Amino acid sequence: MTPALLIHGGAGAATPSALQAERRSGLTAAFEAGWDILIQGGTALDAVVQATVTLEDHPLFNAGLGSCLTEDGTVEVDASLMDGSTFQTGAVGAAKHIKNAICLAREVMTDGRHVFLVGRGAERFAREHGLPQAAADELITPRQHQRWQALRLSSGQAQRSNSEPGTVGAVALDSSGRLAAATSTGGVFDKRAGRVGDSAVIGAGTYADSAMGACSATGDGEDIIRATLARTAVELLRGGKDPAQAARTALARLTRQTRGEAGLILLDPFGRRGVAYTTESMSVALRLGSGQAFRAEGRLVVRV
Ligand code: GLY
Repeated sequence: MTPALLIHGGAGAATPSALQAERRSGLTAAFEAGWDILIQGGTALDAVVQATVTLEDHPLFNAGLGSCLTEDGTVEVDASLMDGSTFQTGAVGAAKHIKNAICLAREVMTDGRHVFLVGRGAERFAREHGLPQAAADELITPRQHQRWQALRLSSGQAQRSNSEPGTVGAVALDSSGRLAAATSTGGVFDKRAGRVGDSAVIGAGTYADSAMGACSATGDGEDIIRATLARTAVELLRGGKDPAQAARTALARLTRQTRGEAGLILLDPFGRRGVAYTTESMSVALRLGSGQAFRAEGRLVVRV
């Protein structure tokens, strides 16, 4: 079976032109990291984790390094992943000092005792399992700090809007027909300490079922949770429906039910892709092509 991979760098306002080249190279590196795993016969789960880690380590995405700040000026990360062939899941929410939240979510999945850890419990689990820790300010980029400070200095007059994109995610199909999905984020700008968004919630930000499809969502987290967007999109693939249409229908439901704005990437068991968003813009990377040519020569398309 020909593998497939689709990654995103968030939905929201258009990327400022000064940041486009750097964000494009980040998405390219993340895609190649996941794709290398798939074409060497690796698993969809490994591919989505590796693509997500690459974007978490890039300072211009709102995940890991470069996460937006809470109202306390701290970084609290959310992430989740799902293996669509085993229905194993792992998720973490509102966790501090975590360099790669998706690796922590995977460790939670592998450990298997629980599926979702938050806050200090997640942080303790990370220490106990030897995951790399980040010092309090290590994940804070000058750009995100300036944004946070501008809001403070303006006494709330400056934009608190969360329209700046940057949540990251990936969906993959491997050569054995397994589907997986992963999502990671710093959440929404100036959020309350302890707030957990859709990226940590299986069925909302992330969902995978190898018989039907895999989805990673991005956008207004509270509304995505209310609408269980990722599971809705995957369910809309039932009966072999077209992923492009399913993605649009899922977002139309979100709009009708909540008025929230979002974007999503969707992959079905045949490697067909769906990308849709109701925001101004959405960053994605995918490879066009089919058959053997798709493995080696397919054209990489990166949109920021
Ligand atoms: N969609 C990211 C968040 O709301 O946290």
